[in-house]
Amino acid sequence: MIGKDINRAVQLLQDGQLVAIPTETVYGLAGHALNLKAVAQIFKVKNRPSFDPLIIHLPYFSNISPYIKVIPEAAAALADAFMPGPLTLLLEKSDRVPDLVTAGSSLVAVRIPAHPVAHQLLTKVDFPLAAPSANPFGYISPTTAQHVDHQLGQQIPYILDGGPCEVGLESTIVGFPGGQPTVYRKGGIAVEALEAVAGPMNVKQHSTSNPHAPGMLKSHYAPRIPLVLGTPEDYLQQYAAHKIGCIRFRVPFEGIPENQQLVLSPSGDDQEAARRLFAGMRQLDGQALSIIVAELLPEAGLGRAVNDRLRRAAAR
Ligand code: TXA
Ligand code: MG
Repeated sequence: MIGKDINRAVQLLQDGQLVAIPTETVYGLAGHALNLKAVAQIFKVKNRPSFDPLIIHLPYFSNISPYIKVIPEAAAALADAFMPGPLTLLLEKSDRVPDLVTAGSSLVAVRIPAHPVAHQLLTKVDFPLAAPSANPFGYISPTTAQHVDHQLGQQIPYILDGGPCEVGLESTIVGFPGGQPTVYRKGGIAVEALEAVAGPMNVKQHSTSNPHAPGMLKSHYAPRIPLVLGTPEDYLQQYAAHKIGCIRFRVPFEGIPENQQLVLSPSGDDQEAARRLFAGMRQLDGQALSIIVAELLPEAGLGRAVNDRLRRAAAR
């Protein structure tokens, strides 16, 4: 059921049940992070492998001390600049964080959402919320309550509606191995913005086998319809008898019906492109298309995160 009753969400979460919640990045499938049954239920509903750890969400950065051991200087600077917001920090966990949440890792991922509904909800519970994106494992993340309802509505008691997500891409994940700020997942905050605060960063490229951030799995975010990178021109002949879809940055492709096209931002705005990407991919995925041909954005700002998602969607 979809609704706007925050108190109902609080009640369910206190009871150990799951609630889908809005955040500024994507919708999350939230549960009481210190309640093992609730955490196990998150993995079950998402059909997520237990080796893929969860992010914990808190109302204020100042709430994190019981859950971590130390805050590296660079982490404090990034938190100061970008929290609340679409940033997740990987920090050394305390004993209070269940191993189930971190999939046995000594690090815990922490995020302080900026969405007013998520924030209000978090201030009303006295425990952190574990919340992965509210999609079945391996599929595109949801950016509206309806997206969640379509896929997980039968399995969860309540979907808290906070409107469409403003950022539209998952949070940027930053860790500090050996003290060096390292981007593990490109996301809602551009690497350039992080570097302006914390200096040069290592940026992990997507890989199939990075055990430290399974969110890096190559084939994440995949639509059902095969997606390839390139220009539709290269596929017109081969798919002459089929319907081709395409994802374009600014300008539609001439020769393909407009309703089979996702134009991310006619004005060339990387933030708008990020906001529209996942909803647009779902829309294309719901059509009877044989293939989706996606054009990459310029490798700058949120364009890098958009390209990361497109590359992974293409990597099936
Ligand atoms: O924007 C977001 O981050 C959304 C909203 C709901 O907060 N959440 C989200 O969660 O994207 P999820 O579970 O779909 O992706 C989180 C990624 C996981 O793929 C996991 O690999 C990585 O964060 N992660 C979590 N804890 C980690 C840890 N202890 N060490 C390494 N990576 C971790
Ligand atoms: Mg996810």
